[in-house]
Amino acid sequence: MQPVPIRLLPDTATFDADETFVGGVPLQALAETFETPLFVFDEATLRARCREAASVFDFGVAFASKSFLCGAMARLAYSEGLCIDVATGGELDLVLRSGVPADHIILHGNNKSWEELRRAISVGVHRIVVDNFDEIDRLTSLVTPGANVHVLVRVTPGVEAHTHEFVRTGHEDTKFGFAIATGAARDAIERLRSVEGIVLHGIHAHIGSQIFGFAGFVEAIGILADFMANDRFDELCVGGGLGVAYTQDEYAPSITEWGTQLRQAIKSCGLGDLRVLAEPGRAIVAQAAVTLYTIGAIKEVTQRTYMAVDGGMSDNPRPVLYGSGYEAFDIRRPLAERTRPVRLVGKHCESGDVLIDEAWLPAETDIDDVIATPVTGAYGYSMASNYNRVPRPAVVFVRDGEAREVLRRETYDDLARLEVNE
Ligand code: LLP
Repeated sequence: MQPVPIRLLPDTATFDADETFVGGVPLQALAETFETPLFVFDEATLRARCREAASVFDFGVAFASKSFLCGAMARLAYSEGLCIDVATGGELDLVLRSGVPADHIILHGNNKSWEELRRAISVGVHRIVVDNFDEIDRLTSLVTPGANVHVLVRVTPGVEAHTHEFVRTGHEDTKFGFAIATGAARDAIERLRSVEGIVLHGIHAHIGSQIFGFAGFVEAIGILADFMANDRFDELCVGGGLGVAYTQDEYAPSITEWGTQLRQAIKSCGLGDLRVLAEPGRAIVAQAAVTLYTIGAIKEVTQRTYMAVDGGMSDNPRPVLYGSGYEAFDIRRPLAERTRPVRLVGKHCESGDVLIDEAWLPAETDIDDVIATPVTGAYGYSMASNYNRVPRPAVVFVRDGEAREVLRRETYDDLARLEVNE
């Protein structure tokens, strides 16, 4: 197997025979300073992707914070011209704490509580994306005439995206949004328009996640355009969903290509005057990070070699949840042929704790060596758990030869903080 393709690594990555650099910083030094497992994010990649999104879409384009959220990330995305999409009160709280102004926050959620809605209204978020009739009831009692609460309505166009079932959302049998086909979306628009104090700007549709082709998006846009032909809306948000390459045989379009295609599709439907919005998550953060792990145990069985690292399904549940593939490489031997197939496993007490079913590493890679899995910036830290009471890893941002810790490693004290002492 060839060395890991450098295109899977962050933009600033470089390889020497015996070292890998990201943001001008040697990964081995990071592993020694901050220990492993460790998430290393390249600020240049994050900024470049945010800038792409900000320039190809209109004002209101948002970073989907569910993919990776901490104060530093929220501030970075905001400073590059993006709004922040939050899906819960917890995400809303962190983004507000991080100093992002409320008028750059978009609130999502298929079950927004009274409290979440109250807070969003009182701080004055940029948009609330309305999901269901119960939410309209709550808004109707919370919004006062003249309040100017700005909303989009989330609709399901009935498009099947070609992606994993768990991350498909545009089809009708889903908990998200109002179906166009059943008339629910039309009813929702009429109800929202009848509430004084609510300003309805347009519609939102998110058809799924980790989508490589444009066909599903274009089909959805066609349906949305027909549906909203006479509504005189000023905004259309196509959600997130652009896929990224995780493994050496995958290739994905850029955010710019995606945005350009979507704009063209919207224009050719006669809706060229609309503000075109999106909320990419994965496409902004996934490739910006690598996770570093130290190898602690190597076991040969008849069928294969197991290589166990100091993290696992707690810092990257995606292989277990979605069967997602990843690559691995030895950070001190990035240019070596990867001749040895191993099953890369974590340290959790279950057989399913597999990070990579068949990873390829150089023959010399051994105990105590540090390996990296690229493209782990999205839905890794944000879906991390403390299963087996494993503390969550630290997160560092690297830039111009410097590393700064943005989330420290969890400690056993952190893990014990919820105990109610009797
Ligand atoms: N907007 C909405 C309304 C969403 O529900 C999502 C993702 C996004 C934007 C961002 O989508 P992205 O650009 O990241 O594809 N945990 C799964 C992905 C779940 C996506 C949920 N919604 C995974 O690890 O693949």
